[in-house]
Amino acid sequence: MSGLHDLIAANRAWAEGVKASDPEFFARLCDQQQPEYLWIGCSDSRVPANQIVGLLPGEIFVHRNVGNLVHQTDLNCLAVLQFAVEVLQVRHVIVCGHYGCGAVQAVLDGRPLGLIDNWLRNIEILYRRCPQLDELPAGERLDALCEHNVRAQVQAVCDTTVLRAAWARGQDVTVHGWIYGIANGLVKDLAVSCAGPEDRNRLCVQHLALE
Ligand code: CO
Repeated sequence: MSGLHDLIAANRAWAEGVKASDPEFFARLCDQQQPEYLWIGCSDSRVPANQIVGLLPGEIFVHRNVGNLVHQTDLNCLAVLQFAVEVLQVRHVIVCGHYGCGAVQAVLDGRPLGLIDNWLRNIEILYRRCPQLDELPAGERLDALCEHNVRAQVQAVCDTTVLRAAWARGQDVTVHGWIYGIANGLVKDLAVSCAGPEDRNRLCVQHLALE
């Protein structure tokens, strides 16, 4: 319990600190949230969305799961995406993976882990489609598949009914693919941003060229 007590104490100190530097901060947040960004990232405890990009509470809407995956049947992820795009009107959807991702490593290891194997199936399918990855040294193979997974999830976001409908009605929303380095704290833009269906189709061609 002492660990949890420490967390509550840290929370009190944090709230006091925020109020001391900006007395109206929490009062402003009560009115409404107006984040410009939706972050779709990995659940990994080393990749906290707000801290990495220096954003305060209220500035980024966040969805995280193991492996930063976007399944077309994941009601949770789709609901977050729909709410962010249609209600909050975010301008940017950022899929952010990270190097050394345990989810991707699990696929490369091929060792059964239980229920989560089903969740990771799409990464496994991606890996099977890229036999050239096996020619790389183990560390590079992991990082290459981590990047490849981000590209695939950017495509998946673009292919949701949410993004298709948003673009069809002319909404200004762009999907981006980033990857975070746990070793240096830096984000790298994978340059696969899609601001409409044309970009998504071009990305598909680029994607195939990489395979
Ligand atoms: Co991860």
